[in-house]
Amino acid sequence: MNAVSRLARVTRLPLAERAIQARPPEPPKADPVVRLRGFSRSFGSNRIIDALDLEIAPGEFVALLGRSGSGKTTLLRTLAGLDDANGQHALIPQSRAVVFQDARLLPWKPVWRNVALGLKGGDERASAEAALREVGLGHRLDAWPLTLSGGEAQRTALARALVRQPQLLLLDEPFAALDALTRMKMHGLVLALWAAHRPAVLMVTHDVDEAIALADRVLVLDGGRIIAEERIQAPRGERTAAVRPLRTRLLAHLGVEAPQGSYADAVAHVGATL
Ligand SMILES: Nc1ncnc2c1ncn2[C@@H]1O[C@H](COP(=O)(O)OP(=O)(O)OP(=O)(O)O)[C@@H](O)[C@H]1O
Ligand SMILES: [Mg+2]
Repeated sequence: MNAVSRLARVTRLPLAERAIQARPPEPPKADPVVRLRGFSRSFGSNRIIDALDLEIAPGEFVALLGRSGSGKTTLLRTLAGLDDANGQHALIPQSRAVVFQDARLLPWKPVWRNVALGLKGGDERASAEAALREVGLGHRLDAWPLTLSGGEAQRTALARALVRQPQLLLLDEPFAALDALTRMKMHGLVLALWAAHRPAVLMVTHDVDEAIALADRVLVLDGGRIIAEERIQAPRGERTAAVRPLRTRLLAHLGVEAPQGSYADAVAHVGATL
């Protein structure tokens, strides 16, 4: 007797009805693309990451908050393979890409060559052009990096990451240097690119609102460990109702008492404490 007919006997509902009511089996959990277990990193006697556990599922968008100096970049550099894991076990996908706060473009190469940097085989220009079109820069292929605005430079950096079709996209405060309007547009762009390509994303940010707007899960790093984890179930674009209590909790984890009132009030209140 299979599970559905066993359930049918127990509950005395018609079989078809019960088959609909029966919960579908949980899909098997995909293996994580990132797994750190008990991961530590010290500089001299200064322990920055302390026996940290972290898993990121394929296609998951994770935001990482933490005070300045809490080790966010150190963790991100480990996941980027830019820092020696000192023989510790760290599961990190081969295909990964990083975008930093500054675009880090080579000024002596035109935009498309910056995007194609390190690509091998095939039509590099065509690949770079496709990625640049996706970020709305199809018309700036031959421009020099120094002629780009800050937002355009970051979009170029995103295209350079995208062209590698990474399984893991690492973002270290990629929008921190941009004005509010450009930043909002970049949020929309990142979400569109993420939806189209579905890499797993780890985005470091100081901005609680940015984290809530973009992520499936928000982590807070403190004292070398993940001290808080919040999953956001509400669909993007429908998060307003969830925002205030969630922001209050996340700010509390960052050591900030959230005042009543608007985001603008909160900014004035927080001042330079983050
Ligand atoms: N190569 C290094 N050598 C020595 N100390 C380092 C090195 N890299 C980072 N640190 C120290 O590790 C700590 C964490 O630095 P990290 O850059 O990871 O912080 P962060 O959370 O990214 O900070 P911020 O939000 O200001 O960017 C800091 O105290 C920093 O001085
Ligand atoms: Mg940093």
